[in-house]
Amino acid sequence: MNSKERPGVLITREEIASIVARLAAQISRDYQRKNPLLIGILKGSFVFMADLVRRLDFPLELDFIRLSSYGRGTRTSGNVRVLQGLRSIVQDRHVLVVEDIVDTGITVAFLLDYLKKKRPASLALCALLDKTSRRRVPVTIDYLGVTVPDKFIVGYGIDFDEKYRNLPDICVLEE
Ligand code: IMP
Ligand code: MG
Repeated sequence: MNSKERPGVLITREEIASIVARLAAQISRDYQRKNPLLIGILKGSFVFMADLVRRLDFPLELDFIRLSSYGRGTRTSGNVRVLQGLRSIVQDRHVLVVEDIVDTGITVAFLLDYLKKKRPASLALCALLDKTSRRRVPVTIDYLGVTVPDKFIVGYGIDFDEKYRNLPDICVLEE
């Protein structure tokens, strides 16, 4: 392992738990009686989604969509494609997109646009992490965990070259 691949803790598992609890409280207030459809973006959001939904104590459904990703690189290509589509019907549902990290914004902007065409009753975005400084496309994050610096993040579902998704804390790969 070279020095670029040594992860250091940025947000501890305890801090993550309180962030997720706060987001769950906000989402509960807004979606209590709406039987929402939560859509997680694979693979990065799977840990966050699992923790989030276990704090939501009301009827809901969930689905996942897989979009083209960075591959081996650490920068987005700007060209998003659906690799694995939804099974759920989006029309007339209250849809909440669940994302691990918004970076340039290209991925979620694409997905929100894609879902809007399917005419949901409402459409909102929940993101655990926001790398605001790198935004290229404007994105409204309705439920935001925390803003993070422009560092490469791994852990808690988030990868570098498919590694580190299993780390329980949110870490940065140190240069
Ligand atoms: P965007 O399209 O540039 O906003 O990138 C969003 C996607 O890139 C997210 O779904 C993440 O999976 C991935 N991504 C963005 N920043 C990082 C990072 O720091 N580490 C790992 N993956 C990232
Ligand atoms: Mg990723």
